[in-house]
Amino acid sequence: MLKALSAATLFLAAALAAQAQTSPVSFDPAATVFRLDGGGVSYVFGINPRGELQQLYWGGRLAAADGFAQAAPLPEWASFDSSYTNTPQEYAGWGAGLFVEPALKVSFADGNRDLVLHYRSHTATANGFDVVLKDISREIYVTLHYTMDPESGILARSATIQNREAQPVTVEQAAAAAWALPPGHYTLNYLTGRWAGEWNLTQEVISPGARVIESRRGSTSHQANPWFAIAAGRPEQVSEDHGEVWFGALGWSGSWRITVEQDQLDEVRVTGGFNPFDFGYVLHPGESLETPVFYGGYSASGLGGASRLLHRYELDRILPHTAATSRPRPRPVIYNSWEATEFNVSEAGQMALAEKAAALGIDRFVMDDGWFGERKDDHAGLGDWYVNAEKFPHGLKPLIDKVHALGMDFGLWVEPEMVNPDSDLYRKHPDWVLNFPGRPRSEGRNQLVLNLARHEVRDYVFGFLDKLLSDNDIAFLKWDYNRNWSEPGWDQLPAAEQKRVYVEFTRNLYGILAELRLKHPKVEFESCSGGGGRVDLGILRYADEVWPSDNTDPFDRLSQQDGFTYAYTPQIMMAWVTDSPHWLNRRATSLSYRMLSSMQGSLGIGANIAAWSPEEVALAKRLIAAYRQVQPTIVQGDLYRLISPRNGSEFSATQTVNAEKTQSVVFAFIHSTQQGRLFPRLKLKGLDPATEYALSPIEGKPRAGTPTVASGAWWMNHGLDMDDGFRGDFQGAAFRLDKR
Ligand code: DGJ
Repeated sequence: MLKALSAATLFLAAALAAQAQTSPVSFDPAATVFRLDGGGVSYVFGINPRGELQQLYWGGRLAAADGFAQAAPLPEWASFDSSYTNTPQEYAGWGAGLFVEPALKVSFADGNRDLVLHYRSHTATANGFDVVLKDISREIYVTLHYTMDPESGILARSATIQNREAQPVTVEQAAAAAWALPPGHYTLNYLTGRWAGEWNLTQEVISPGARVIESRRGSTSHQANPWFAIAAGRPEQVSEDHGEVWFGALGWSGSWRITVEQDQLDEVRVTGGFNPFDFGYVLHPGESLETPVFYGGYSASGLGGASRLLHRYELDRILPHTAATSRPRPRPVIYNSWEATEFNVSEAGQMALAEKAAALGIDRFVMDDGWFGERKDDHAGLGDWYVNAEKFPHGLKPLIDKVHALGMDFGLWVEPEMVNPDSDLYRKHPDWVLNFPGRPRSEGRNQLVLNLARHEVRDYVFGFLDKLLSDNDIAFLKWDYNRNWSEPGWDQLPAAEQKRVYVEFTRNLYGILAELRLKHPKVEFESCSGGGGRVDLGILRYADEVWPSDNTDPFDRLSQQDGFTYAYTPQIMMAWVTDSPHWLNRRATSLSYRMLSSMQGSLGIGANIAAWSPEEVALAKRLIAAYRQVQPTIVQGDLYRLISPRNGSEFSATQTVNAEKTQSVVFAFIHSTQQGRLFPRLKLKGLDPATEYALSPIEGKPRAGTPTVASGAWWMNHGLDMDDGFRGDFQGAAFRLDKR
């Protein structure tokens, strides 16, 4: 069996091989300045006379001939703030009186905790540099990795920390990178939420002090997502289309932290990586610790420009795809049985649903929770990954064959990292869960978290998944994760080493996914964690899609989808049409509205379709067929949030334009019409002004007199009006424009 890390490395190497283009990077030996250019961005840092690596510039692309003088440290501010703490360092060690957030904090075996990193050497890499720093006296080496994307100008940064001392060293805090912005007025944008309420864009003025965005939960979390965008100006000045935005996202699915601080001299610094809370990674002599990757980008075109760059980067550089395609393929339209049957799955019931799904034009039939072990509800079965013989007396094969015969492929739900105390696995291996001996084991949804950091657990999880995929013709796994950590003990290790769990758990998760993908290259994966609890640029190297929220209310989803797309591409944003009234908000909505809301992302159906009327079946079938024709534009095109549903807006609208600018799709939604107000005219964006586009409705009508064909200039300057009858509660419309 391949070792976990080597599988992850092999898998990533294959993915990165597709990245052929190069971007200009240069080192000026006279001024000791490094410069990376990509897309519309330049990033510049240098070695100051003390030997520290100091950031010099991050922003719009400079002319090739523009040069920088050697970095000059900022002066001390009286006796209270030294030059060391004032100077914006690329990766500052905690030592020498550093009072801002350190990138790295360590404890040496002799009690010394002072660390001051100076430049040692560097090598040029494909599209970047590896720069080696070393402590001024101790044998601690840090290699900073920089890779600039030639197209988007997004910079990937990470660090490798190596102990070459004769004694162990404990890493207490390790960031992937620190970013800096000069003094100014800025607004911080970040994403917050809770279960069934993820993806709220939160905006606040950056003020003196630190704002910490984090997860201490062992995984990414619903409560905060590791993404930020800092926009120039006050919140009321932040725009979708204009203004400078610096943004970033961490590629890590374990506990993480991003600290945004305005320091004592009003500079803004963003430091992110492993969450230092309860952290402690012992490096024995010769050992290294790799941090996650922190991606950072810049746009001069507002929050919209920033998200379009990030979407492109995710599609081109992060998400898995085969060597044959430069981008991942649009997601199959799926049917998922969860909201229809919950745990009550059976061969006959699933076959009946599969027939209905096939009649709608579904590509992929996914059976959710309930098919394994003694799983009747959420009290038992997790950990026992054998097919429940009562529900599926002949195994999964008859159902899978039936699904194939109906022209669909087959997907299955798993929750590999969890165990119910009521399971054979737990009865056999009670020590396999995260726990502190002699302390209670707190349950969430009646389950405990397996310690995936342990090699036996890792091998068990890989083994059962490998067998499941080898024995059955499965195209897709929905990988769920329904609680956060408690009592994160790993008592097989010496006390001082147990906190390695924060790193090794997540590394093993990635290793398992990488190895499964290498061995079963046709299988696709969804990252789900009771909805959107595990969405980040780390898991997205291995997952083809994510489940953004358990909240499938189509109105709530409009705001959630709006929030989600600030950070993540609609390609991965699975969106099911479910039943009305909705179970969460008890809101009744039409099928047309529900379909259109879900069609803004990767469409799925999650309703009890056995109960649908012939009219509902006909409508869904028609809209699924219409969606298929424009899906690549919706999920991989440039997204313009024309009207955000945030802050109680009465209306919302989005538009996507494909890369060739030959097609565009517009969605418009009304929450509740008040005072007879007409839908605002939509001035479209991103079209080619000289190209003629034909307008065709997918659902709804334009205002009488709207031309069926007009130039891009007309649609962008004059705009598109909805029909005057487009009023009421929870109404939706959609249109496509095609180059003539
Ligand atoms: C939580 C997921 O988010 C749901 O979609 C569903 O798969 C349930 N778990 C099943 O237990």
